[in-house]
Amino acid sequence: MPDQAQKLSTRHLLGIKDLTVNDIELILDTARNFKDVINRPIKKVPSLRDITIANIFFENSTRTKLSFELAEKRLSADIVNFAASSSSVSKGETLIDTVNNILAMKVDMVVMRHPYAGAGVFLSKHIKAQIVNAGDGAHEHPTQALLDAFSIREKYGEVAGKKVAIIGDVLHSRVALSNILCLQKLGAEVMVCGPTTLIPKYIGALGVKVEHNLLKALKWCDVANMLRIQLERQDIKYFPSLREYSMMYGLNKQILDSLGKEITVMHPGPINRGVEITSDVADSTQSIILNQVENGVAVRMAVLYLLANQR
Ligand code: CP
Repeated sequence: MPDQAQKLSTRHLLGIKDLTVNDIELILDTARNFKDVINRPIKKVPSLRDITIANIFFENSTRTKLSFELAEKRLSADIVNFAASSSSVSKGETLIDTVNNILAMKVDMVVMRHPYAGAGVFLSKHIKAQIVNAGDGAHEHPTQALLDAFSIREKYGEVAGKKVAIIGDVLHSRVALSNILCLQKLGAEVMVCGPTTLIPKYIGALGVKVEHNLLKALKWCDVANMLRIQLERQDIKYFPSLREYSMMYGLNKQILDSLGKEITVMHPGPINRGVEITSDVADSTQSIILNQVENGVAVRMAVLYLLANQR
């Protein structure tokens, strides 16, 4: 575990934007230790024995929700789970009233996923508990970016100098923004690739390269992070059909094998097999998709542990 003197510069984890390079490195180094812990026969440590955490999810989740729950259990925290679909939100209760009711039950930290950008920031200004953003609309998904950086570092030894292409529906992706910010802070070069309609117009202002040709992006990169087409956030048609999208931007084994070099394939999940990635690529030895999921638990343990040290 890290030295008690090593602290994050923030009380909450609202976005990668707010983290310093030291914060990110401290989280990744701490996660390295927790990865050892969760691979031991006894996977549990007492670090958060006196902490109660509420996981409040206003949007569906598989990986993030399970991963936070497991991280909290491995750290011996007490947890309560809240899903908006089965709560009084459906009766008209506001976000602040819902969370204040949860906090009245003496909760110390709130892990929240919400469909609106900035929901975590809003909450952090109105309640005393520490907030962890588990994804806010198309804005940020900081723990996903941290676990992605951890996975790249695990694969290559360091993130600095690596070329990472983020490919697909960048426009609707919170993973893309958090990854861009995190990778750049750690010294990687970042490219975004996709159809013009799915790349935000001013994304170049973030200092990323922009490419619309999949093959060129793949030839440039060391790591390809394939994003899902987020049909649920698309209010208009951004491309003619999924079939055409897949033909232009889907990663298949034939393209991968034609590169003449070995790149690493990542995906934050959930995967749409046959759309942005074929099964033979997702399940290939070049894919580290399940390593990302495993690393997510260690990274979230590190985040919760370090935030608890701020109290
Ligand atoms: N990567 C990710 O956020 O997946 P879930 O939506 O299943 O949590």
